[in-house]
Amino acid sequence: MKRLPLLVLMLSALVGQAAEEARRGMVAAVHHLASEAGVEIMRRGGNAVDAAVVTGLVLGVVDSHNSGLGGGCFLLLRLPSGEIVALDGRETAPAAATADMFLRNGKAVPELSRTGALAVAVPGQAAVFHEAVTRHGKLPWKVHCEMAAQIAEDGFRVPRAYAARIAAVAQDLAKFPSSRAIFLRADGTPLQEGEIHRQPELAKTLRALGAGGPDWFYRGPFAQAAAKWMRENGGLLTEADFAAYAFKRRTPLETTYHGRRIVGMPPPSSGGVHVAQILNILEAKGPARPEDSPHVVAEAMKLAFADRAHWLGDPAFTKVPRGLADKEYARMLAPKIDLAKATPVKGHGTPPRADEHVFEKHTTHFSAADAAGNWVACTSTINTSYGSKVVVPGMGVVLNNEMDDFAAEAGAPNAFGLVGAEANLPAPGKRPLSSMSPTLVFEGERPVLAIGAAGGPTIISQTLLALLHILDEGDTPAQALARPRFHQQWSPDELRVEKSMPSALKDDLRRRGHVLKEVDIIGSTQAVGQPVKDGPFVGAHDPRSREGRAAGF
Ligand code: GLY
Repeated sequence: MKRLPLLVLMLSALVGQAAEEARRGMVAAVHHLASEAGVEIMRRGGNAVDAAVVTGLVLGVVDSHNSGLGGGCFLLLRLPSGEIVALDGRETAPAAATADMFLRNGKAVPELSRTGALAVAVPGQAAVFHEAVTRHGKLPWKVHCEMAAQIAEDGFRVPRAYAARIAAVAQDLAKFPSSRAIFLRADGTPLQEGEIHRQPELAKTLRALGAGGPDWFYRGPFAQAAAKWMRENGGLLTEADFAAYAFKRRTPLETTYHGRRIVGMPPPSSGGVHVAQILNILEAKGPARPEDSPHVVAEAMKLAFADRAHWLGDPAFTKVPRGLADKEYARMLAPKIDLAKATPVKGHGTPPRADEHVFEKHTTHFSAADAAGNWVACTSTINTSYGSKVVVPGMGVVLNNEMDDFAAEAGAPNAFGLVGAEANLPAPGKRPLSSMSPTLVFEGERPVLAIGAAGGPTIISQTLLALLHILDEGDTPAQALARPRFHQQWSPDELRVEKSMPSALKDDLRRRGHVLKEVDIIGSTQAVGQPVKDGPFVGAHDPRSREGRAAGF
């Protein structure tokens, strides 16, 4: 049997040890190698920012169907000074993008925005991770890259979920020789559970990025290799698009919920706006009896997603009303919820001062915190499984298909069934709308929770439900993440519920007029909290992610 190298063995040995409580630092992620790398870098003197970044880089190696250097992220960071930093590493459309680029004969062709050259937007993860580490971390950038490179070079044992995701998209991966060489065997069959997966090209890329920093990625060999592939394969991305990429520092979006401060990402995330909006509607509606609660929450989700479809987009290109997250608007919407029955929502609402009071305009989530007072909530993505399915030749990096998060045309559903309007049509340099919702919660000035989720639009619902369980019902993060979930995104007008939801509750929702769609699982949420001042950190990974781990020290 092939032997696994020391770092992987050392990290794997910790799997199964209960480490959900720890005093000095905590990381929660969907793969144990990633969260253990986060703990390891804190042991070497790093802080929670170093931990979050190395966790994210390792996820790009061991969980590459969900996130990686070929994708983007939103990173929300609370510094020991109390300052909150919101880093937007969302991808940008190429300069040659047009509003009709995914239409053929006047109709949207979904395949174009999901697989291959046109699906790809300029990745932002490398820029944000580098900024986070060099400004707010303690250890040199190359240390993080080297830790991830070592795992890519030495390999890891393929988990069941990873093998299943390769198998599910094997036909598309096979279209691209550089992807086929990495994720399929020589005979064309997908990698199998239990095999050791080594990625020497990705290791080389990580080391080059560690040495050369963002210039190597955006203005050097990576950009050149990606642009060459695009030229030869009908893509639009150019070296100039890479060179023009800039992450953004945003002003975090804040609301309160029953006295706690809830801080999230502003647009182009729709997560911060709509988590805040739904919490505000629920607060305005007043306390619900436990038997009414899922119905009321589902109705609030429906109202919010109807607004999302109309208003939300990159704030640099479209007016996104700040009023969506206002208490005043929530008080207008709350009476629309009928306790007895599900109410059809024909379209979006209009918040106060919608025109003048505006914002400037498959995925993974990980959280980290340390005793110095650094807290990180980061959600990162290449969009659907293995993104565009394109690996840049020689680089080992899977490129995103984030262009599918634009609306191909007004009203055309994307891979998640989400519809959008003019606000979210493609345009040169524009950021596609996202549901990623990294969230920090404060009691007064004290951070108490870093949370977020993966799973397209259900990210918003998952984050919201976990917040309600923790803040309203007193759940621990682990209890909250284990509860059955539901999701209502307005269009299609159906209530997605996990099969594990009690039958009596499902029957009750049907009686109130909800059309239920039962699914095995909804998404994956990770959380780190510190419920008691100066007490231990508690971490939880989603029990639906079998390889996940919350690790502390
Ligand atoms: N790619 C999923 C999202 O950003 O919402």
